[in-house]
Order: sequence, then structure tokens, then C-alpha cells
Amino acid sequence: MQTRKVAVVTGSNKGIGYAIVKGLCENFFGDVYLTARDVSRGQRAVENLKHIGFLPLFHQLDIVSETSVKDLKDYIEKEHGGIDLLINNASVGTSGSAEDIIQINYFGTLRVCNALFPLLRDNAKVINISSSAGRLQRIPSTELRAKFKDPKLNVASLNELMKTYLNDVKENKAVEKGWGDSPYVVSKVGINALTILHQHVFDLEKPYRNISITSVHPGYVKTDMNKKGTLTTEEGAKAALYLALQAEFKGKYVWFDCQVIDWDGVLPESK
Ligand SMILES: NC(=O)c1ccc[n+]([C@@H]2O[C@H](COP(=O)([O-])OP(=O)(O)OC[C@H]3O[C@@H](n4cnc5c(N)ncnc54)[C@H](OP(=O)(O)O)[C@@H]3O)[C@@H](O)[C@H]2O)c1
Repeated sequence: MQTRKVAVVTGSNKGIGYAIVKGLCENFFGDVYLTARDVSRGQRAVENLKHIGFLPLFHQLDIVSETSVKDLKDYIEKEHGGIDLLINNASVGTSGSAEDIIQINYFGTLRVCNALFPLLRDNAKVINISSSAGRLQRIPSTELRAKFKDPKLNVASLNELMKTYLNDVKENKAVEKGWGDSPYVVSKVGINALTILHQHVFDLEKPYRNISITSVHPGYVKTDMNKKGTLTTEEGAKAALYLALQAEFKGKYVWFDCQVIDWDGVLPESK
């Protein structure tokens, strides 16, 4: 008997995450979980999709809450036994404190990965919604950039690097130490580094499982996070849906036009 596939999209009550869920409801062959930290916002989003003929499932998920992440993990394990597609979309923009931005965008995403990776089935895909802000060149210091791409970097030392950043912010030394002035940039550079490390671990330890982990810049999308965006949420969901449903770019950084970008390179003029 073939097991029904399962997809989970974090932070999908609105914006790009919502458009990804809608696209998956159209084309993913299996159960699609719309998740939200706020139950009423999440259920409203599910109702909106049901209104137009789609049937997403719902589960509460606040990626900064250990309990909430564990509840989702336990539920999926009990109901389905595994996950085929995880889309880490939940994030906050540039307006909060550095502590909040790093705790949600970086450590929150990592918490979800740590909890749900044991449930990944063979051939599963993980797609991390990053940003153009996640390009390594956005970190001004050459020395810090070298730390992010050090071949000896592992998840534990990346976590330490992110904590060092928060410490430098607390001491009001982040700019002086070469991190730049944007916690959002640091959070997304961290996500891109994490994508590469996680892919490396799976490739090294369990290559036969064929797990694919990719990060995506969704484009400049008009949402509550970016009111000046020029793309629609459907356009912003396009690259993530392409990776989820068709292509496989293991450990790569993919642009909204579905092209692979060099994480550490200069952005081509056409981008
Ligand atoms: N829009 C752009 O131009 C753009 C560009 C580059 C990258 N991105 C990335 O694209 C992704 C989606 O952004 P968006 O523009 O669609 O923003 P959005 O409309 O503000 O949506 C963000 C989603 O994340 C959720 N979220 C925030 N903190 C959470 C937490 N602790 N736990 C669970 N969910 C949480 C929000 O929930 P609430 O409704 O409860 O707040 C919301 O559902 C993000 O990763 C963002 O960094 C966006």
C-alpha cells in the first residue's frame, strides 16, 4: 500500500506561505498542513481556501515555542508517521529587535528542523524560505564571511556564531565588528549556511535516503512584511513550488526565477 504524502508549511496563514499552501493544494499529491502561531488566523486562512475548493489541514505552530513544535511533531508522527515536504517559511521582517529576529528566523527554523527531521521520509524535501538578504556578501566583514563558509563549520558552531552576533548587538558593537546593521540579514545568512550544513549531514551520513534541502529567495513580494513588494504572493511562491513539485537543487540557493545563485558570489546584473 502506498503511503499518502504529507507536506507542512510554517507561517502559512498569510503572505507567501499561504500562496505556497494554495499551490500545494492544487498540485501536491497528499495532505497539506497550513500552520499558524495564532489558531484563529490559521483557521480563517483554512476556511478561505476551503471556500475556493481546497482542503488543507490545520495545526497550530509557533516556531519559537518548544511545546508547540513538539505538539506538531507528535501529532504528525501519530497521524501520518512521516513527512515528505517541509517548507520553513515563518519569519519576521526587519522591524523587531535583533534578539526577536534571530530567535524567530534562525533559531525558530532550526527548532522545527530538529524536531521534524527525524520524521522525514526517504526522498523528502526541505525548503527554507530565505531572502536576497541571505547572500553572504551582505555581511561586510571578510573575517566573518570566512567563518560562515569555513568547511569546518557545523550546526553547533554556526549556533555559536549567531549567539556571538547577539552578544555584539547587546554590547552595541555589531557594526564595528563587521556584521552590518541588519539583524534580518544575519538571520537569513544563517539560514543559508544552515541549509548547506544540513544537506551536508544528510549527504554524508545517509546519502541513500536522498533528502534534499534548498534555500529560496522568493523575490520582492507585496505582503504585510514588505508593503512595497512588486510581485504577487503567487509569484513569490513560484520557486518554492517548483522545488517542491518538480526540481531538485540539493544544498543550493535558488532565486525567485528558479535559477541557482552563488551564495558567496556577486549578484549577476540580470538579478
Ligand atoms: N515579502 C518579501 O518581499 C520577501 C522577500 C524575501 C524573503 N521573504 C521571506 O518570505 C517568507 C514569508 O514572508 P512574507 O512576506 O509572506 O511575510 P508575512 O506576510 O509577514 O508572513 C510571515 C508569516 O510568518 C508567520 N510567523 C512569524 N513569526 C512566527 C512564529 N514565531 N511562528 C510561526 N509563524 C510565524 C506570520 O504569522 P502571523 O500572521 O501570526 O504574524 C506569517 O504567517 C519569510 O521567510 C520572509 O523572510 C519575503
